[in-house]
Amino acid sequence: MSGLAGQRILLGVTGGIAAYKAADLARRLQDAGAQVQVVMTDAATQFVTPMTFQALTGRPVRSSLWDAAAEAAMGHIELARWADRIVIAPASADLIARLAQGMGSDLLSTICLASEAPIALAPAMNRVMWANAATQANVATLRARGMQVLGPGDGDQACGEVGAGRMLEPMQIVNALDTSAAPALLAGRRLLISAGPTFEDLDPVRFLGNRSSGKMGFALAAEASRMGAQVTLVAGPVSLCTPDRVQRIDVRRAVQMRDAVIAALPGQDVFISAAAVADYMPAQTESRKIKKTAASLSLELVRTPDIVSEVARHAQRPTLVVGFAAETNDVEQHALGKLKSKGLDLIAANDVAAEGIGFESDDNALTVYSTSDRHAIERGSKSEVARRLLELIAARLESGA
Ligand code: PMT
Repeated sequence: MSGLAGQRILLGVTGGIAAYKAADLARRLQDAGAQVQVVMTDAATQFVTPMTFQALTGRPVRSSLWDAAAEAAMGHIELARWADRIVIAPASADLIARLAQGMGSDLLSTICLASEAPIALAPAMNRVMWANAATQANVATLRARGMQVLGPGDGDQACGEVGAGRMLEPMQIVNALDTSAAPALLAGRRLLISAGPTFEDLDPVRFLGNRSSGKMGFALAAEASRMGAQVTLVAGPVSLCTPDRVQRIDVRRAVQMRDAVIAALPGQDVFISAAAVADYMPAQTESRKIKKTAASLSLELVRTPDIVSEVARHAQRPTLVVGFAAETNDVEQHALGKLKSKGLDLIAANDVAAEGIGFESDDNALTVYSTSDRHAIERGSKSEVARRLLELIAARLESGA
């Protein structure tokens, strides 16, 4: 679940061409579970109509301090109190200057003055305006007062110039807000996570693989990063984007995954082995494509290294070693067997025969076992399930268990 779920976000939109991106931002904040109330400056209404935001949010847009009917419904002080947080995107140089001066010259600046909610700004302006000493001093003042400044990004600008001043993309803003909303339960911790399948090559054309998409491991990496951890993700062959602030190492085969995990081990607090590592690999990989000749073909397979077992017995063993068990039957019995035989602290068992969870799907459900207790994590998105598992891990790290 996103850290923004249930939050009441007052989205301030100021005048600038990037105002069109604020429409997408409103939508994405709602997708993350937030309630969004838009407040526009007069200048913003020159770029995008209030109707666009009203249609997207289902709430009338506020733009004037002097609208008697709107003030009677929810006055500017009530709006200031309503907001759990205020996000201004795009934030123009003019609005930044007025906030730095403590002015209440329109509805948006007045709400900012009257609210105790945290305020985040996503500046957007021409690169020279951004670099201007006045703007930089104003931004420094607002930062010093605790406002969060998101961006700006670098690149092509609507005015034809290239440089710093572009508003961050809506998803970058959502992720940054989400990170600051997530409880920093893993701040200062280092987590190593493996994800995805391994592909064991038979020849240059064929391989032995499995159905893992990497979604579970990537969700763990993304959520751990949101919770403040420094995350290293060793990924098998998957087509997923690297989560923000996560260091990713791509591998293909089990032996490569083993080497990457062992190399990354020093200083890790936790290893989570979410990868579906092949148990067997071909005894040899042919350098040329195997030709179709005989009626049948036998392959000799040999065991791959058991990575999580090796980590659990390593001299630089992390404080917690967490395995996953992908089972189709007798889930508890097999999971407890692996917990013991592999020397793990926790094992998260998923029933990969159940409909709609486990491999490839967007949802999962886990039962997490230690030698002394068990904890059910009910079905939810892989992000929600990852967050619950990480909360358990954080609690164990905290208690020193
Ligand atoms: O990737 P998704 O599509 O999102 O699917 C998620 C998942 C089902 C793959 C994931 O939730 C999961 O269960 N991962 C572990 C799959 C697995 O290999 O389970 P296992 O029971 O075969 O292995 C037990 C543990 O030993 C696992 O932590 C595994 O990473 C580890 N192992 C296994 C073999 C091996 N050679 N080395 C290992 O480290």
